[in-house]
Amino acid sequence: MLSNVSVISGKSSEELAKKLSKRIKANLIKSTIRVFPDGESKITLSGKISKKKSIVVQSIYPPVDSNLIQALSLISKAKEISSEVIAVIPYLGYARQDREFLSGEIVTMKVLAKLFKGVGASKIIAVDIHSVIGLKHFTIKSKNVTAISDLVKYFKKLNLKDPVVVSPDQGGKDRAQEFAKEFGSEFIALEKKRDRKTGKVQIKTKNADEVMGRDLILVDDMISTGGSIINATQFLKKQKCKQVYVACTHALLMNNAEKKIKNAGVTKIVSTNTIPGKTSMVDVSNTISKAIM
Ligand code: R5P
Repeated sequence: MLSNVSVISGKSSEELAKKLSKRIKANLIKSTIRVFPDGESKITLSGKISKKKSIVVQSIYPPVDSNLIQALSLISKAKEISSEVIAVIPYLGYARQDREFLSGEIVTMKVLAKLFKGVGASKIIAVDIHSVIGLKHFTIKSKNVTAISDLVKYFKKLNLKDPVVVSPDQGGKDRAQEFAKEFGSEFIALEKKRDRKTGKVQIKTKNADEVMGRDLILVDDMISTGGSIINATQFLKKQKCKQVYVACTHALLMNNAEKKIKNAGVTKIVSTNTIPGKTSMVDVSNTISKAIM
């Protein structure tokens, strides 16, 4: 065991932190949380934190603000003891708020960047951040790693017959294209237009005939309400595709999204353990360990 490195496991990423500590042969420090009736959380750590280096692992999924304050608290405590603290935030909440889309909007990623630096992190590692623009706000070292290879490995085992990889929008085109390249399949990107004020979405594609009679893999960075996947699936089903599979890194699956997605005709949703849950079948600890070493 490398006693000079500690992996501090936040409550939101317990399984991933455990896997990561095993991979890099580091000492695992667990945290327990007591949530008071007013919502405040009290964190207690068990174990001896390394003086040299700590790696704090805590995703920022709902309850987003609680998980954020827990991440910051863990980093702050680690920094009291370790000379170097790396923040591994597999799902980096607030990453979609990386620029001022409408006048007056606050760019919360800028605030996060100041907070992580303020509590003592010297580096932040995220997995498939919504857009790398989010990391540009950080003045500490930052790295985005991708779970695409891990997802591709899983899908190869499903033995689908000549599927087409589909990006539900142009924003996710590069990610889906990378998936298609590693998978060795054809690829198309839908055109999704969202009205920023009403939220209403419209979908088009120039390549509709390419999906007829074919199995599809919809690739996205994240599923929140499932709206993007549902709209894309309904559109693709109208083009007479066969089965629709979904590969995504972060499955938040808010408001019964899994059921709604299945009802729209999706056969299987596959996500990673950046957010633990029923669909998180793919482990990203190996990918994260390479970014740390
Ligand atoms: C959008 O640009 C993202 O890549 C995701 O497609 C989107 O954030 C998912 O959100 P929802 O599931 O609510 O449509």
